[in-house]
Amino acid sequence: MDTSNINLNIELRETTADDLPIFFEQELDPVAIEMAAFTAKDPSDRQAFDAHWAKVMADQGITLRTILCDGQVAGSVVCHSWDGEPELSYWIGKEFWGKGVATRALALFLELLTTRPLLARVAKDNLASIRVLEKNGFELAGEGVWFSNARGKDVEELAYKLK
Ligand SMILES: CC(C)(COP(=O)(O)OP(=O)(O)OC[C@H]1O[C@@H](n2cnc3c(N)ncnc32)[C@H](O)[C@@H]1OP(=O)(O)O)[C@@H](O)C(=O)NCCC(=O)NCCS
Repeated sequence: MDTSNINLNIELRETTADDLPIFFEQELDPVAIEMAAFTAKDPSDRQAFDAHWAKVMADQGITLRTILCDGQVAGSVVCHSWDGEPELSYWIGKEFWGKGVATRALALFLELLTTRPLLARVAKDNLASIRVLEKNGFELAGEGVWFSNARGKDVEELAYKLK
């Protein structure tokens, strides 16, 4: 799909507590959960979600932004170093998919976060996410197998890096 001609206003802004219920709903979508594969054990557990986001919001070492699409909260993009190296992840609400939102949001995020190298891990069959990474200059750097909570089994995973 050619998304280059869709004229949407994509912006990043600081995340606020008001965004969290929207992220919760976006991260409950079964198709998205299956796609992302490496999710929380129970994405419908609001307490666990709140605890996770309280940790994220309190961590000074994290770079976190809310993605706006024509002023609406379309998702989030975050970089943390909880496993050692700076690692990126993002989530776009399903109603915003296929419009170039993730690609453009990631490009904006990489302008404000200049830390390199940056790691991103993705299920091998998450072709949309792989495409988003490749369009932003990430290159394949490794692969492995991790347990997927969403799928209840081991799933092949690729590591991408931006140098
Ligand atoms: C993956 C995700 C971020 C993509 O967001 P998006 O805003 O739809 O992405 P974009 O529109 O910017 O780009 C998607 C690209 O993948 C392509 N794509 C989409 N579905 C595809 C598929 N099934 N197979 C191959 N390519 C696909 C699109 O054509 C586009 O590439 P193009 O511009 O070259 O045509 C979004 O689906 C999402 O948040 N999913 C759930 C959470 C998740 O997987 N997060 C990432 C974890 S690593």
